Amino acid sequence: MESTCRLSRRSLLQAGAGLLLAKAFEPLPARALERSGRRILATPARAGLAGPGHAKTDVWAYDGMVPGPLVRLRQGVPARLIIENRLDQETTVHWHGIRLPNPMDGVPGLTQPPIKPGESFAYEFTPPDAGTFWYHPHANSLEQLGRGLAGAVIVEEGEPVAVDRDLLWLLADWRLNAQGEIAAGFGNRMEAAMSGRVGNTVTLNGSVSKEEPMRAGERVRLRLVNGSLARVMALRFEGHRPVVVAVDGQPCEPHEPEGGRILLGPAMRIDIAIDMQGQPGRRYRVIDDFYDGLSYGVTELAYSENPPIRAHPPDAPLSLPRNPLPEPDLADAERHELTLQGGMMGGGGMAGMGGMMGTGGGAAWAINGMSMTGDGHVGMEPALTFQRGRSVVLRLRNETAWWHPMHLHGHSTLVLSRNGAPVPYRQWQDTVLMAPRDTVEIAFVADNPGDWMLHCHIMDHQMAGLMTVLRVA
Ligand code: C2O
Ligand code: CU
Repeated sequence: MESTCRLSRRSLLQAGAGLLLAKAFEPLPARALERSGRRILATPARAGLAGPGHAKTDVWAYDGMVPGPLVRLRQGVPARLIIENRLDQETTVHWHGIRLPNPMDGVPGLTQPPIKPGESFAYEFTPPDAGTFWYHPHANSLEQLGRGLAGAVIVEEGEPVAVDRDLLWLLADWRLNAQGEIAAGFGNRMEAAMSGRVGNTVTLNGSVSKEEPMRAGERVRLRLVNGSLARVMALRFEGHRPVVVAVDGQPCEPHEPEGGRILLGPAMRIDIAIDMQGQPGRRYRVIDDFYDGLSYGVTELAYSENPPIRAHPPDAPLSLPRNPLPEPDLADAERHELTLQGGMMGGGGMAGMGGMMGTGGGAAWAINGMSMTGDGHVGMEPALTFQRGRSVVLRLRNETAWWHPMHLHGHSTLVLSRNGAPVPYRQWQDTVLMAPRDTVEIAFVADNPGDWMLHCHIMDHQMAGLMTVLRVA
């Protein structure tokens, strides 16, 4: 499957079918990979979230930019990224989804001391997987991410993928007040027990987007990153048929999303391939309609008047080369159940929290009766310990009335089933979106030694107890 469908530039040329495609394909601009280390500052800044001509907003940002600079790495090539803290509080950086050594994982108190104001920390790792990832703080996460500290990481495939353009949309959700500043009130307890801090302004690559220029006939790889604190998205591309080619950085069998909607929980990434089959000069809306009655336009695909660059879309689907993930041995796996508990119920009470043990005040959520709150995880005892190399099946049971994107650090997990039914496509994920009452089984080889967070990526939920630690010893 991989070898027949993989659309490498070479195989296209060999097949002789891709002449137009090959001609239109341009290699990405020469990338300055700083082997000596790339320095990124975490700093207060001003950003034009509403677009040109509007007032700027006070943010915290990497290199003063929202989103932070795109970090381009290459699969299998050592990277060195130095984070310098110019904030007035401690920070760290988590390289979300990248399977890296535990001391580089960016969890303060668990994998490294926090980076104090004025200090820096060098993250060194060799990304084993190509794909779309992102980076964000793991200290005071709710506020630091909510004020703008986030950026994308692209780990490039060894051989370029044959598309006309490789685009990235980092989507972020902000709660702005009437003055256009970020609203105070991070960590509202009521909100934390419900949907989390869903905002009122969605930006695409750092500003509210009215249009994205397109050319008819193009084949585009579009990397979607949901960098929101709490907003789940369900994207529809009017007049287009996006094909999902990777989830959370991991290639999958190309398929059209269910109902044409791309469901993107906070912290998830989905790469889609779109053949731009619209009419020159026309515009097509991209809509997020996840929340009933609250749909809005994310942007519009604005076609130039130019004629299509090719008469027909390329025959072969875009299929990406697989990453070197260890295959779990399901027959021999150890099995555990983790139950997500808590949150506000219909009647207004808190569910399932009787006899809950906790590590801090303000817990609204728990996993198997334990609440790990905040993000200073000093002295945490792991909920589960695995022998290195063991295959593990985790059954995640969402007992709550809320959605949760559950993220495991340090590993990518194979999704086996949802509510008892096998999933239609084989899929590796590091962040699994669970609907209320969902039960999802995931499997992985516990091959990466260290203490790893497992938590909900709705930041209010994490801070209020929906978090635990798994140890690979
Ligand atoms: Cu992107 Cu612990 O998270
Ligand atoms: Cu959650």
